Amino acid sequence: MVILLSAQGLNKHWYKEMVVYQIWPRSFCDGNGDGIGDLKGIISKLDYIKSLGVTAIWFSPLFKSPQKDYGYDVADYRDIAPEYGTLEEFKELLELAHSKGLKIIMDLVVNHSSDQHEWFKESRKSEDNPYHDYYFWRKGRKGGKKPPNNWLSSFPGPGWEYDEKLDKYYLHVFAVEQPDLNHDNPKVREEIKDILRFWLDLGVDGFREDVITYISKKDGLPNGFPLMPAARGIENYANGPRIHEFLSEYKNDVLKHYDCVTIGEAPMMRPKVALNYITEGPDQELNMMFHFQHMEADCLFIEWVRRPFNLRKLKKVFTNWQNKLYGKAWNALYIENHDHPRIISRYGSEKYRVESGKMLATMYICQRGTPFIYQGQEIGMTNLELPELEMYADVATQNTYKLFRKLGFKHDKIMDIAKTAARDNARSPVQWNDQKNAGFTTADKPWFYINKNYTEVNVEAAEKDENSLLHYYRKLLKLRKENPVIIYGDYKEHYKRSKTLYVYERNLNGKRLLTINSFTEKPVKFKAPKGFDLSKGELALSNYPVDNPGANEFITKPYETRTYLF
Ligand code: GLC
Ligand code: CA
Repeated sequence: MVILLSAQGLNKHWYKEMVVYQIWPRSFCDGNGDGIGDLKGIISKLDYIKSLGVTAIWFSPLFKSPQKDYGYDVADYRDIAPEYGTLEEFKELLELAHSKGLKIIMDLVVNHSSDQHEWFKESRKSEDNPYHDYYFWRKGRKGGKKPPNNWLSSFPGPGWEYDEKLDKYYLHVFAVEQPDLNHDNPKVREEIKDILRFWLDLGVDGFREDVITYISKKDGLPNGFPLMPAARGIENYANGPRIHEFLSEYKNDVLKHYDCVTIGEAPMMRPKVALNYITEGPDQELNMMFHFQHMEADCLFIEWVRRPFNLRKLKKVFTNWQNKLYGKAWNALYIENHDHPRIISRYGSEKYRVESGKMLATMYICQRGTPFIYQGQEIGMTNLELPELEMYADVATQNTYKLFRKLGFKHDKIMDIAKTAARDNARSPVQWNDQKNAGFTTADKPWFYINKNYTEVNVEAAEKDENSLLHYYRKLLKLRKENPVIIYGDYKEHYKRSKTLYVYERNLNGKRLLTINSFTEKPVKFKAPKGFDLSKGELALSNYPVDNPGANEFITKPYETRTYLF
């Protein structure tokens, strides 16, 4: 039994105190001049990463991969992609990172493999091949002419691919090149455990587990809800029937024997269901979860279905997760990653790029949970906004385009939506300086487009400017480190009904924090909530100079943020 140390759920752990920097390797830094980010480039930036005040790095997949989904299609779980480097170099990086006090978190992508993985190549050789049942191979319906069921991929399009030689279909809930692994097969589970041991024995400190809630499919693979235009059938595998059995097995046989952390990625997750995975105690399966709900404040489920930004929707989600997990489980806090457009372009304002960037940073990092920061977020990178369909590299963008055409949308309209919705927006190379290719590569051509604003938005310029977002992130993380109230305190929201301000307090053993965050450029009248006298507090963080920080009423400036400690 894990004993809660206090009524405030002060069950301390290093993973709760950690702050994670996410690297999407292809676009981070190119160390050998071929236009593609790599380990050598990452090694050259370790001191920079450390200087932010983060304590861990999560790598989006570094493994050998045909890169059809940029590493989320793994061809060899035990080797590094040659364009990124070698396993030896990875070990060097791991050792270096550890020597600097940075933990390393790998991406575990086992809902599916690449179709170029040896297992899959074997599995399609014949029905009696020992690897055949590593995947979901099924006969078609209607004499084989129709796929085994009506499921559709999450990257719009069919969920099944036909193989002529076997006269069977295989399941892929993502791209065609990402066949789903069959965790019902005990041999597959042994393989997964071996992979976990391999990396843990090498010294890594944990895993972010890709769409891990999808790994158990309902028996018989029944048809999905027919009206779904994409991800049809998902109700048969999101939180599927054997998911807890599988995750417990991975934990009991491997993970719990190491001092490691696990963060499960879980689309469509709600707090009540999440608690079945992450409640602390002997049956806990994962330490934290990446849900998507707060990514839906300006859209309907996915960024491609736009809605005007709605702060109340955003606050409701955050507060709900804060409250439901309190004293029971731990939040993973993020506002950007490689799957979502840049946050300033969405919930903030490109016009008030630095101001709104600071406000957004404060708004989520001061909550209870482990913060994750995505590469480039700390300098306020914004959406890439590519004009032509051909320029988009992401298979999800290409497939979504096709679906929207089918649904009757005009080309120009779809390209408009893509500018704000495509994942490619967050995947452009990190802007290091105002030189050629933003200092990302010495090659003539980087693998992907660089945001035109790099002459202004780059690490070097931010280092020189004491009011930059970069320096603000450093201050914010320092404040979190020095004030346990930010890590472990309880959470209470104020002015819930406000459509423009997000205000909440945190409390721990008499220490208090109040953070005030404006989501508009318009002036808003703020009055300190009952029980707070700002003149008694210390203004610990703000994004504008404040003349009279003790005034209990003030009019906000555009995207103003203030954080007081008491
Ligand atoms: C996760 C990853 C995403 C990937 C998908 C399929 O959502 O974050 O990048 O495309 O899984 O692996
Ligand atoms: Ca390179």
